[in-house]
Amino acid sequence: MTDTPITVADHGPIRHVTVNRPDKLNALNAATLDALHDAFGQAAGDEGVRVVVLTGAGPKAFVAGADIAEMADLSATRGRDFSLRGQRLMRRIETMPKPVIAMINGFALGGGLELAMACHLRIAADTAKVGQPEINLGLIPGFGGSQRLLRLAGRAATLELCLLGAPITAERALQLGIVNRVAPAAELEAETRKLAEQLAASAPLALRATLDIVNVGGECAIEEGLQYESAQFGLMFATEDMREGTRAFLERRKPAFEGR
Ligand code: COA
Repeated sequence: MTDTPITVADHGPIRHVTVNRPDKLNALNAATLDALHDAFGQAAGDEGVRVVVLTGAGPKAFVAGADIAEMADLSATRGRDFSLRGQRLMRRIETMPKPVIAMINGFALGGGLELAMACHLRIAADTAKVGQPEINLGLIPGFGGSQRLLRLAGRAATLELCLLGAPITAERALQLGIVNRVAPAAELEAETRKLAEQLAASAPLALRATLDIVNVGGECAIEEGLQYESAQFGLMFATEDMREGTRAFLERRKPAFEGR
């Protein structure tokens, strides 16, 4: 449906969220940002969902950026509001209590790369192109891209992408650490499914703690980060999943984790 900016579908414990504006290469307008924010809020609170896969509809794009038509006439104040709206979504995704995989099926440009970088893992088709082309519009990244790219891939890559504005191939993005994996386009869905199934069978509370310590540790001094890791490590001993995981290892069987 063209007037539905996103679609949501469950395959067992795997929730698929798809940006659904293929005619506009899935560009993020305000309505799409809000719909995504709601969808991730729901996925966060739904115990049946163990992992989320985010992608874009159609054969060409993951997301080709913030909606340029919607941005073109914004005032400075509204421009700032639009940025804050996008940043709110990215933070919602980044702080999800369960893993989110970006399945980059085509262009991930501007807000599209920012969206992918807010996810916890990124798998890209070998045909995908990623970049921060805002400079070509007289703009800069506004959904957290400058900050996340810097943390993900360092200063050299950030300045290269943001100053030059040229898209790079999936393979180069892999070299720079911007994506985790690259798959042949025809195998992207199957490879993503494998990743998602592995995460869905993993221990939910330990996954959550991992996401948490990485989010917190990325922003604090090492002593604080180490203390937080120890606290979370200790907490795992209060979970049934930890007993199940260690027992299953000793009994040479597969663990069945229930998130308790
Ligand atoms: N915002 C709004 N609309 C967008 C868009 C965006 N970021 N990206 C693509 N579209 C729209 C186009 O305007 C076009 O709409 P139309 O058919 O109504 O004219 C449609 O999507 C298809 O895009 P088109 O440019 O014709 O496809 P292409 O294959 O020739 O080029 C791209 C693909 C990705 C190279 C090109 O669309 C592009 O450069 N997009 C903008 C990327 C960008 O600067 N993103 C950062 C925004 S801050």
